[in-house]
Amino acid sequence: MAILDKHKILETNATLLLIFSFLVVTIGGIVQITPLFYLENTIEKVEGMRPYTPLEMAGRDIYIREGCYTCHSQMIRPMRDEVERYGHYSLAAESMYDHPFQWGSKRTGPDLARVGGRYSDQWHVDHLRDPQSVVPESVMPKYGFLEHRKIDGKYIGDVMAANAVVGTPYTEEMLANAQADFRAQADPDSDYDGLLERYGDKVSVRNFDGQPELTEADALVAYLQMLGTLVDFSTFTPDPSR
Ligand code: HEC
Repeated sequence: MAILDKHKILETNATLLLIFSFLVVTIGGIVQITPLFYLENTIEKVEGMRPYTPLEMAGRDIYIREGCYTCHSQMIRPMRDEVERYGHYSLAAESMYDHPFQWGSKRTGPDLARVGGRYSDQWHVDHLRDPQSVVPESVMPKYGFLEHRKIDGKYIGDVMAANAVVGTPYTEEMLANAQADFRAQADPDSDYDGLLERYGDKVSVRNFDGQPELTEADALVAYLQMLGTLVDFSTFTPDPSR
């Protein structure tokens, strides 16, 4: 065991051990990092991703403000149990317009990455108002007050402009129409053609919380209902070179 004997020299000499540890970490680092410089893009191209609409963006802000991420993750890992429970594993592209991302690190409640379309709007409203009314054993807090907090989207253009600075491709037109689009999405009687033109015709236009006023519940439900629904998985094929 000559090699083990030599190892003893390293293990009993702190300076030498430090130098060799540093070498090993350096080589490991180079092996991991260098290939990244030769990839044009580390995010797989997918069909369907778009920036959040103003109303969804407001919902996302409420989600963050209320700390929903302390109990919910938004990242389905590529493991069988997760994929069977939540749906297709999350793709990097699906959080590319999230600043900051909402992957989370704690699951007191289920992952929400693909909760969009799983329940009706009314279910969400009931569940937010009183989670135990629909899931008796739930430990989720009540968020009924959101239905009473009116919002007008006055600042949503600024939030979007800030996101544009860090790379979300909001156009001048999207920013200029932010407040109008914000209102239009929650009002099916409005003229929402502009909204669909800017964000795609798959955008849901509904009175999300079912009451006449535009409230934080509308924004939050609009956000929850689009989560994980953008990518068209019928046309998605994973890139085998990755
Ligand atoms: C204290 C932890 C906790 C917090 C904070 C929390 N939740 Fe939950 N949530 C849960 C638990 C536990 C469940 C599972 C039981 C249930 O459906 O109520 C759940 C379930 C859900 C579901 C249903 C998911 C599914 O697939 O069935 C949604 C949607 C949801 N939460 C949204 C939210 C939103 C939005 C917020 C923030 C406004 C939030 N939660 C805050 C614990 C939490």
